[in-house]
Amino acid sequence: MAVLPNLPRLDGKTVLITGASGGIGQITARELARRGAHLVLVCRNPERAEQTRALIQEASPQSAPDILLCDLSVLAEVRVLAAEVLRRYDTLDVLINNAGIMPGALTITNEGHELSWVTNHLAPFLLTNLLLPRLEAAGQARIINVASEAHWLGEIEPAQNFRNDREKYSPFTAYCDSKLANILFTNELAHRLDLTGITANSLHPGIVDTGLVHPGSSRLLKLLWLLARPLMVTAEAGAQTSIFLATDPKVATISGRYFKNNKPARTSSTAQNRAEASRLWRISEEEVGLE
Ligand SMILES: NC(=O)c1ccc[n+]([C@@H]2O[C@H](COP(=O)([O-])OP(=O)(O)OC[C@H]3O[C@@H](n4cnc5c(N)ncnc54)[C@H](OP(=O)(O)O)[C@@H]3O)[C@@H](O)[C@H]2O)c1
Repeated sequence: MAVLPNLPRLDGKTVLITGASGGIGQITARELARRGAHLVLVCRNPERAEQTRALIQEASPQSAPDILLCDLSVLAEVRVLAAEVLRRYDTLDVLINNAGIMPGALTITNEGHELSWVTNHLAPFLLTNLLLPRLEAAGQARIINVASEAHWLGEIEPAQNFRNDREKYSPFTAYCDSKLANILFTNELAHRLDLTGITANSLHPGIVDTGLVHPGSSRLLKLLWLLARPLMVTAEAGAQTSIFLATDPKVATISGRYFKNNKPARTSSTAQNRAEASRLWRISEEEVGLE
C-alpha cells in the first residue's frame, strides 16, 4: 500500500504514540511528524528512542519530537508517564496506543500481571483514562488503539488468576485475549465519550513484517510467523490505517469502529458485546486500581 499522499497537515497538533521505537509505531510517528504534528514518543529503550527521533528529524528537519521513557508493563511507570504528560502538555489531539508484545513463556510482572495483558491492555487502559483531561482540552481529539484480527480467537477471562495459571497458559491465546480487550475497551470508551469531542477507534494493521515475533517467542509462533511471511506487508503499509485514523477528516466524528485498510471492518460478535465490554471495564479498573 502506498503512503497516503493527500491527508491534511497536523501543524499545531500534539500526537502521543506508544511503541514508537520500532515497527508500525515508528513509521506512524515519522509520517505524522512529516505532516507537521508535534510527536511525543513513548518508548522503553532510550537508545532506540533516540534512533527514532533521529529518523524522524531526518525525514522532517523542522520537527522536534519529545521522548518520554516508560516501560508500559509496569503500571507504576504508566502513572508517572501520565503525570509527566499532564505536566508538560496543555492539550493532546491524538493518542495512539500502539505498543504491544507477543509474549513468550509465561511471565508475571512484579506487580502481579501477565506480561502481555498488562502491556497490551492494562497499560493503554490506564494511560488513556489518566490522559482524558488533556484530550478533552483539545476540543476535538482522537484515540486510536492498535488491535488485531487475532481478537477473533480471544476471550476475556473472569479474573487475572486464570491468565497466570502456568498449566493452562498459551502465549498465543494470551495475545488474542489482549487484542480482543483492545477492541472491547475502544467500544466502551467510545460509548462513554459519546457527546464529547473525543473519538475512539481500533484497527488491524495487516500482517506486518516487524519485530512482534522475536527469538523468545514459542516455536509454534515462530513457525506460524515464517509461514505467514509471503503474506506480510511492510511497516510502511502496516502504518497506513493508524495514519488515516489520526488525520483523515472523513473519520473526525466516527467513533467505536474497528478499521482495516482504512475502512470499517467486521469484528467477532464477542468484540461487539456491550455486556462484555462493561465487564472488561470493571475488571480493568480493579486490576489497575482506578476509581
Ligand atoms: N506485526 C503484525 O503483524 C501485527 C498484526 C496485528 C496487530 N499488530 C499490533 O501492532 C502493534 C505494533 O506492533 P509491531 O508489529 O510494530 O511490533 P514491534 O515491531 O515489536 O513494535 C512494538 C513496539 O512496542 C514497544 N513495546 C513493547 N513492549 C513495551 C513496553 N513494555 N513498554 C514500552 N514499549 C513497549 C516496542 O519497544 P522496543 O523497541 O523497546 O521493543 C516497540 O516499539 C502492536 O500492538 C501489535 O499487537 C501487529
